[in-house]
Amino acid sequence: MKIGIDKIGFATSDLYLDMVDLANARQEDPNKYLIGIGQAKMAVIRPTQDVVTMAATAAKRIISEEDKKNISYVIFATESGIDNSKSAAVYLADLLGILPNVRTLEVKQACYGATAALQLAKGYIALNPESKVLVIGADNARYGIKTPGEPTQGGGAIAMLVSSNPKILELENPTAAYAENIMDFWRPLGHSKALVDGKYSSGIYLDFLRNVWDEQFKKTGFKLQDYGALLFHLPYTKMGLKGLRQILQDASVDDSTRLTREFEYARQFNREVGNLYTGSLYLSFLSLIVNSDSIRSGQRIGLFSYGSGAQAEFFTGILQPNYQEGLAGVDYQSILNKRQAVSVSEYEKFFESHIFDIENIELDYQEDNSDFLLMGVQDYKRKYLGR
Ligand code: CAA
Repeated sequence: MKIGIDKIGFATSDLYLDMVDLANARQEDPNKYLIGIGQAKMAVIRPTQDVVTMAATAAKRIISEEDKKNISYVIFATESGIDNSKSAAVYLADLLGILPNVRTLEVKQACYGATAALQLAKGYIALNPESKVLVIGADNARYGIKTPGEPTQGGGAIAMLVSSNPKILELENPTAAYAENIMDFWRPLGHSKALVDGKYSSGIYLDFLRNVWDEQFKKTGFKLQDYGALLFHLPYTKMGLKGLRQILQDASVDDSTRLTREFEYARQFNREVGNLYTGSLYLSFLSLIVNSDSIRSGQRIGLFSYGSGAQAEFFTGILQPNYQEGLAGVDYQSILNKRQAVSVSEYEKFFESHIFDIENIELDYQEDNSDFLLMGVQDYKRKYLGR
């Protein structure tokens, strides 16, 4: 039985910051951000948006009323959760109208979380082939104003429907996983911004890639020629390019040309949005299948998932015939084009206005036209609006 990604959806903010404006404000050469980091724009998240509202928008774009009846499991991966106890999945299931006969839970392992959720879903479908699992990877990537991590912020949500006989990608076995207990990036309880040892984290990412790539080769014997595209976790798109270059060190001209071309398609949306943390790898997958005119059904896609702390996994999937149908007709390029630019001072104001550990607040949501939004907090309870 084939198991994999049946549909994929994405949502981000309607606001963005141009990286040239950020570079000018921080007295950096714009090419450091545009080329050295590989980012053109960065999503700026309104205080009335969080992982739940962005996930609801992403999911609403793909799930039908028929899907809702078959979803028996919602797995929400995030490292910017909104509660230390209650899962974001139960809020989401409520907003989408898929309660009460459903399992809901949240998973966390930095940017690896959505891959963990996908693998859990795969196992669940193997035992329950008639069911569907809604997998979410949603984050608001926050390092702080004027920190080295600032140009690698962003945010958004990926929603994936996992099922048997999937329309988009059949997930293959085996996969290669690797973990070590290290401190490259973390967010202690009570902190609203991530702490990171930036240069160390970038080096560890490449070490983990080498480990899982070699392990996957030992298990499968797959060579570069067996892949139509290689995708990477993209905290910033230059990081994935470094990963690709490491893999292509001894590649033939044919392999190198093909895999570099597909990588360029696969980083197009990430360049425009910034870091989604755990959703980034899957935004890159979406970018590939939307933008590439050379990728073909039947081709094998390799995916490198990395989550600081640290956990990595390399896994593969086969692109299915008519995979475009799994996009549910959503035009992501026009959604991104319709976003509104904000100035650096507006971005800083939005950044500082997000609410953490507040007992009571009513948010002004008049300017937020999203289908789902956070109205405020009452007695430490989040109040959402779906419309
Ligand atoms: N033109 C072109 N390129 C330029 C340039 C210019 N004028 N000026 C600088 N550059 C290049 C540099 O040469 C460098 O390229 P290389 O990495 O290829 O050497 C690049 O721009 C960045 O320059 P710096 O290294 O000087 O940048 P920095 O010290 O300010 O910080 C960073 C870069 C470490 C990535 C920092 O942004 C950061 O800490 N980011 C957060 C951590 C992160 O994303 N880590 C990734 C792995 S961890 C992970 O993946 C999990 C996750 O999601 C967080």
